[in-house]
Amino acid sequence: MFIIANWKMNPESADKALDLFANEVKWLDWLPQNKKHKIIICPPFIWLYPVWQQCQAYLSGNVFLGAQNLSEQEIGPYTGEVSATMLKDVGCKYVIIGHSERRKLGEDDFAINRKIKIALKADLIPILCIGETKYQRKNNQTKNVIKRQLKIDLRNTQFNKTKEIVIAYEPIWAIGKIGQETIGSDEVFKIKEFIKNIVSVILVQKNIKVSVLYGGSVDSKNVNNFIGTKLMDGVLVGTSSLDHKEFIAINKAASS
Ligand code: PGA
Repeated sequence: MFIIANWKMNPESADKALDLFANEVKWLDWLPQNKKHKIIICPPFIWLYPVWQQCQAYLSGNVFLGAQNLSEQEIGPYTGEVSATMLKDVGCKYVIIGHSERRKLGEDDFAINRKIKIALKADLIPILCIGETKYQRKNNQTKNVIKRQLKIDLRNTQFNKTKEIVIAYEPIWAIGKIGQETIGSDEVFKIKEFIKNIVSVILVQKNIKVSVLYGGSVDSKNVNNFIGTKLMDGVLVGTSSLDHKEFIAINKAASS
């Protein structure tokens, strides 16, 4: 089970990032017995190094660091970019790729495909985000959109040591709307099966662990609508991951 915290462009100082990280994971002393519960915290690039330096004691077994993006290039003259190797060097094991907020900035599925490949080459585990807009949903295009995204994003991917990928289904219309609309449990189940089937056809290598998560306004009250035996393998949490008490409540609800 994955509980992923996507802090987005928060918090505004290194001190606050260190506090938030420590507060979110230091209560987890019960977790060593529960290796299946994985918490991945994804701070902005700039806070990865201080968090990795000062919170290493927490980064074991259940708690991992992830980044929110990476460059599609390996090294060289790419001003403002951060490479997969750099992320590995500051303790990242995971990287979010293709978040809808990055797609909105112009990142297309072909760029996302290059990023997935570069992440896999460096043995970073990609957390690939996919999902439809409200308009696409209204026009019954959800499955087509997801299928098209997965087909391009995962084309010709080559897994090395890390034979694992995480897919986060994040309907764009449900992001950033805590307490409002999300999808229901019956749909969660259908979407998960749909994604798993498509991914198993696309991936050439057959021994890859594929986990499917839900993201979009997850909180401690609704988390159990999304996870469970027949439901998703975890959740990707944005807004609620900025409040450590709420984040802890989500983890507790998810593991009960
Ligand atoms: P949200 O964000 O939980 O604030 O909806 C989720 C995400 O965008 O990853």
